[in-house]
Amino acid sequence: MEFKKQFFEVIDSTNRYALEHECAHGMVIYTDEQTAGIGRFKRPWQAAAGMNVMMSICVDIPEESRAVIGRLALFCGLAVTAALQQLGVEAQVKWPNDVLVAGKKLAGILVETRGSKAVIGIGLNVNQLDFPDEVAAKATSLALVTGTELDRDVVMDAVLGQFAIYFDRFVAGTTDFVAEYERIMYGLGSWVKVDADQVLLLGIDASGTLRIRDEIGMERLVYSGAISFESV
Ligand code: BTN
Repeated sequence: MEFKKQFFEVIDSTNRYALEHECAHGMVIYTDEQTAGIGRFKRPWQAAAGMNVMMSICVDIPEESRAVIGRLALFCGLAVTAALQQLGVEAQVKWPNDVLVAGKKLAGILVETRGSKAVIGIGLNVNQLDFPDEVAAKATSLALVTGTELDRDVVMDAVLGQFAIYFDRFVAGTTDFVAEYERIMYGLGSWVKVDADQVLLLGIDASGTLRIRDEIGMERLVYSGAISFESV
């Protein structure tokens, strides 16, 4: 995949921009600062200006892959963790695609689709050292994890390089991502809260759906929902 980058010093949200403009396959919108960054479940994504990676990658989804679009979010999580591994950082994925290091969130991914197009928004904390009080206990950055300041372009290019590989695998329709995902899946085999229920995390299935066992021993699939690990 050939990438073409477009930079904004400040923008409301790179995902919003990408969705509202002509955004060709391989186009990457990135910025130093977002004034209205969006996270999953319409939560705000807050990241300090000039210190982090905030980008949106535009892709065309081939017809044959649309039925398995749910997998794309997981492939993106794998791409980010693979890039981090290249940079010497071992990360885990909290289903579907939060990227954690030592249990704290390092990166978040928001996949939004419009017809045959998808916009993959990635926010990765690089050099930020302080976080707002309400997230301080749950967030981290590469600088905090490695003890050194990193070049954001190097981090961004590592993520793009892995994204190209994982997007090809997504389009190829391989299901070998399941084992790969489960190897780095945060909370696998433990009791967690999914929405209001306490469940045992068993893994994922080939569509990328969460597999759980509930309190009465029934195995079930969970298609969406917020997983919380704090209260179990
Ligand atoms: C999440 O963890 O809830 C997903 C966060 C995604 C944030 C990124 S930053 C770049 C792109 N633009 C946005 O407005 N959101 C995504």
